[in-house]
Amino acid sequence: MRKVRIAVLVSGGGTNLGALINAEKDGILKSGEIVLVVSNKNDAYALTRAKENGIKTEFVLSKNKAQKDFEKQLTAILESESIELIILAGFMRILSKEFTDIYKNRIINVHPSLIPSFCGEGFYGLNVHKAALAHGAKITGATVHFVNEIPDGGEIIMQKAVEIDKDYTPEELQTKVMREAEWIILPLSAEKVCKQMLGENYYD
Ligand code: GAR
Repeated sequence: MRKVRIAVLVSGGGTNLGALINAEKDGILKSGEIVLVVSNKNDAYALTRAKENGIKTEFVLSKNKAQKDFEKQLTAILESESIELIILAGFMRILSKEFTDIYKNRIINVHPSLIPSFCGEGFYGLNVHKAALAHGAKITGATVHFVNEIPDGGEIIMQKAVEIDKDYTPEELQTKVMREAEWIILPLSAEKVCKQMLGENYYD
């Protein structure tokens, strides 16, 4: 069966990458295959996870590099692997309109809150959970959305809510949101988008 060629972009621990790899093994993600993992951090543990699972990895340095140069290098790698869908899984660099236009409706991201709460520039990783706790929110969650030039601004694909206990530390809340929301809706969304892409006769 024809499968969508997926690249996962990472910067850190890669637990969401792990969830995607498991989903592929378990047949939850069946319309796409992860063929490449790209990190902008050479010490990202996500790279180890990919290698352990026999997935090709690439490192593209982004620090102190002009956006244009970074994206040129990234695009060349993605094109050389004929990537059709890009999944941002804890990828901590904002992408330009030039880049997101090339892959319109072909980039998805997982964000650790219920967009439009606690999102946009500056809201990433633990900051998001610190903000939710500081605000006294009772519910948070995760969102998977298409990526456009507005940070966390693209069309929402899936969301899942998680209850907040006010005594949680940001780290505890992060773990809960990952376990109860991100690791579930990211693989489901990836499958949904891949299935749609195959059904569009996109490749005819
Ligand atoms: C995840 O919580 C992800 O939603 C978040 O960073 C964490 C990465 O964890 N992403 C963002 O905040 C992007 N705005 P992981 O490397 O273990 O998947």
